[in-house]
Amino acid sequence: MADPRPIGVFDSGVGGLTVLREILRRLPAESTIYFGDNARAPYGTRSDEEVRAFSQECLDVLVERDVKGIVVACNTSTAVALGDFRRRYDVPILGVIRPGASAAVLATRSRRVGVIATPATVRSHAYFTAIKDENPAVEVYEHATPAYVPMVEAGRLSGPDVEATVADGLAPLLGSRDETGEFVFPLPPSARIDTLLLGCTHYPLLRPAIAAVVGEQVAIVDSATATASALAELLSVNALEAPAEEAASGRHVQLTTGDVDGFAVLARRLFGGSFASIEALELRRVAS
Ligand code: DGL
Repeated sequence: MADPRPIGVFDSGVGGLTVLREILRRLPAESTIYFGDNARAPYGTRSDEEVRAFSQECLDVLVERDVKGIVVACNTSTAVALGDFRRRYDVPILGVIRPGASAAVLATRSRRVGVIATPATVRSHAYFTAIKDENPAVEVYEHATPAYVPMVEAGRLSGPDVEATVADGLAPLLGSRDETGEFVFPLPPSARIDTLLLGCTHYPLLRPAIAAVVGEQVAIVDSATATASALAELLSVNALEAPAEEAASGRHVQLTTGDVDGFAVLARRLFGGSFASIEALELRRVAS
């Protein structure tokens, strides 16, 4: 049995494109419908109720378009409502938190992992729980970095302002800088992390700036590759893979509730010129 229907990929905005990129690398024969709710991003500073309602509205759209499975490529939605989605929809649904947590647990040597994420994800402690499930001996330091997502949604990924904002956000996990700009470590060695988990799908777009701040001593891990592997497994187990004759011919559609041109610019940065079919979509519920 094979299934030519598309896979739905959802995020509050452009961040989930980092997951989509890995899905296309790993599963080139699959077709996809990507849905970014850019008009209502960021989700991470909203209440759980809003995150749940907005996400559900987007997932309804994907299900109406007959997707064969959904990747919730948004940590905030995954953290707040993955269980609700799995109860509501018949299609298999994958989140990004378990795959990211597993990758971080495999990466750490000192068993000290820092997690940066949106305020809603940190509030849920979903990463803490998922990492402890994998290995209770790992210490988890969760920290909210709410300034990052608006920068990414605005297409600001580099430059002195971005670097300064990224450094400010990471300071509580790393220690502060001295007058030469070097990080000093007021944290005792027992609290220093050796692995930083990017617990928001927007953050890999800031990876160069983040890497410059954390330095080579800290491994940077995100959910994208691990989620694509988990999706490959899910499709295989459920006999949902695209037919063999579809190989390397997946069709891709992107939907956004926001500005099509702005979305196109960021998508092009990530994928080159290959993303042409971006559709604007209006949702019933109005953003507050
Ligand atoms: N990219 C999403 C996440 O992984 C949402 C960010 C936001 O909209 O605040 O959490």
